[in-house]
Amino acid sequence: MQTTQAPTFVSTFEQEVYEGLTAFPKYLSSKYFYDEVGDKLFQDIMAMPEYYLTDYEYHILDENKGEIAQLFRKDGEPFSLFELGAGDGKKTKILLRHFVNQQISFDYRPIDISQNALHQLETSIKKEIPEVEVNTLQGTYFETLRDIGKANGRRKVILFLGSNMGNLLHPQAIEFLKNMRDSISDDDLIFMGLDQKKNPQTVLDAYNDKTGITEAFNKNILTRINKEMGGNFDVDKFLHWEAYDPETGTAKSYLVSKEAQSVQIESLDLNVRLNAWETIHTEISQKYDDTTVEWLANQADLKIVNSFTDDKQWFKNYVFKK
Ligand code: AVJ
Repeated sequence: MQTTQAPTFVSTFEQEVYEGLTAFPKYLSSKYFYDEVGDKLFQDIMAMPEYYLTDYEYHILDENKGEIAQLFRKDGEPFSLFELGAGDGKKTKILLRHFVNQQISFDYRPIDISQNALHQLETSIKKEIPEVEVNTLQGTYFETLRDIGKANGRRKVILFLGSNMGNLLHPQAIEFLKNMRDSISDDDLIFMGLDQKKNPQTVLDAYNDKTGITEAFNKNILTRINKEMGGNFDVDKFLHWEAYDPETGTAKSYLVSKEAQSVQIESLDLNVRLNAWETIHTEISQKYDDTTVEWLANQADLKIVNSFTDDKQWFKNYVFKK
């Protein structure tokens, strides 16, 4: 029996799970992939040969670190380097190391939804590049942009790497970019990595590896619901499915119910019924081209002032200003 009275939720995670699993079609937000297990799985994804994004962006940053440093340091006044969705900081460390070597004065303020990821990042930077002043901030992108806006008087550079914005549909991305615009001043920069449209097979392979790491990552949201809300999802009764539309550039992940089943989630007082082959949409990973990025920037009243890419133009880092 379906509960008709909406319960009180102890977290937005609970509320969003309730909303997503009582909706039609069902959905869950990919921002909940990332607990300790999910962080580790995402690190494994970044190390997979199919997941080209990390390697390509790494090389773009490495190749262009000199020019990027010139851009960021401007006239030499100290700046604050914010990073949204910092993760393990593998790519950012190329820049941090270079800035330290060039005696550029800056402080580093990584932001992530995962406290676990932030803690590991801070520890590793203290060990590997102790010269860097680090201040971590835990929260969602939308929450923390407010804090960025209120930050000290230093010039700001906001890093948003790894095509993390790709988790947002265009209308949300525009809103997000507008929020970013509102939290920066005229001299500040936004440095954003966005995965580019390419052979659709290459994209599909990146989200559908044979080893099943992406499958485990996608299913981790069900495991989290089991652990944190007393759910009884049997993850083996779900199929990981990836679809890519080369026209819109949208890759979509689903969990497909292999049979009719009913799942109990205790703390939501919820019984979820799934028909055979019913879907739960879990993630979008948007792929971009210059036309689309220019349109997005325009909608948010931002200017593209520079960009860096690789030989194959598989990935691109854009620099935005107000
Ligand atoms: C971290 C959001 C950029 O969408 O490519 C990797 C997450 N999902 N494999 C992406 C992800 C499945 C990733 N982002």
